[in-house]
Amino acid sequence: QKGGYAHFMLKEIFEQPDVIHRATHAVSEETLPSSLRDAKSITVVACGSSYHAGMIFRYLLEPACGIPVRLELGSEYKYTPVPFSDVIIGISQSGETADTLAAIRKGICNNVRTVAITNVLNSSITRSAQDTILMHAGPEISVAASKSFLAQVGVLMQIVNLLSGRQCIDILDHARYAIEQVLLTDLTDAVDICSSADHLFYVGRGVFYPVMMEGALKMKEISYIHAEAYAAGELKHGPFALLSPETPVIAICSPGQAYEVMLGNMKEMKARGTPIIAFGLENDTDVRDIADVVIPIPEVHPWIQVLTSTVLLQLLAYHTANRLDREIDMPRNLAKSVTVE
Ligand code: F6R
Repeated sequence: QKGGYAHFMLKEIFEQPDVIHRATHAVSEETLPSSLRDAKSITVVACGSSYHAGMIFRYLLEPACGIPVRLELGSEYKYTPVPFSDVIIGISQSGETADTLAAIRKGICNNVRTVAITNVLNSSITRSAQDTILMHAGPEISVAASKSFLAQVGVLMQIVNLLSGRQCIDILDHARYAIEQVLLTDLTDAVDICSSADHLFYVGRGVFYPVMMEGALKMKEISYIHAEAYAAGELKHGPFALLSPETPVIAICSPGQAYEVMLGNMKEMKARGTPIIAFGLENDTDVRDIADVVIPIPEVHPWIQVLTSTVLLQLLAYHTANRLDREIDMPRNLAKSVTVE
């Protein structure tokens, strides 16, 4: 049942403080599959939101461990040459996505070790892969992934911890409190802008690029607004031609190595009359001077920023879709499990 929430999706978004706690404890030193512990190279295969989780994993694992991560869309993997990594991770919340299952089977046929990360015990992927890590998000009713996506990211962050020997588990333990805090954010001004737009751009750099891809996917699937995510540096290579007062941009400008360059990018967009919704620290006057609306983000470790920004983007999509009176839990043309190629 919806437990007093207007939609299952909102209920599931609000479950995330507990979900992240369970997901980050879903795998430990003792239960980490040996194929991952020994891997010198990893291929991740997934679709949709799960692919975005895989992309976040690549941004975090490669600098932490120096292990190269090849990332493939499930639907394209069959067209690539024989896998060359030591292990294939298939990420699928439902455990039933045909393309991701096919990738796991291709790995097995080529003697590559396989690991499934899924939310569903006894799903098809758990029966195909040699090892399974369950993410313990709990049942997800809403077609659009919210808590299952965050749980995937939580599990993958914990894998980075275990493989790098950096015990950031205490950092992840703070995630639930930071998420509780952002769940209370008032997004009315940002929703005003988004709900009257036909097109939205989402931009970020580094690990925040896949976070924005996920935010844009959520917006398009439940609000039906065309939303496109770009690595911020790519806008100049074409999409800049589309910027106008009618194409709001949602940008993430969190402290870190990409901060200055993101500020510069936002100024360039502003010069085209583009309304800017920026994710930035509450007391950041530079962001406030450029942006039309600032969505405040807490001052926390970058991994926690990934999680809290994801939650804020889910809420932005949810409230925009709700304003437009969309059928949020069952968007048109979509299904929870995609069992055909
Ligand atoms: C988006 C969404 C889809 C799924 C995709 C893969 O909100 O839910 O993009 O992420 O269909 O599904 P799984 O993870 O079940 O393989």
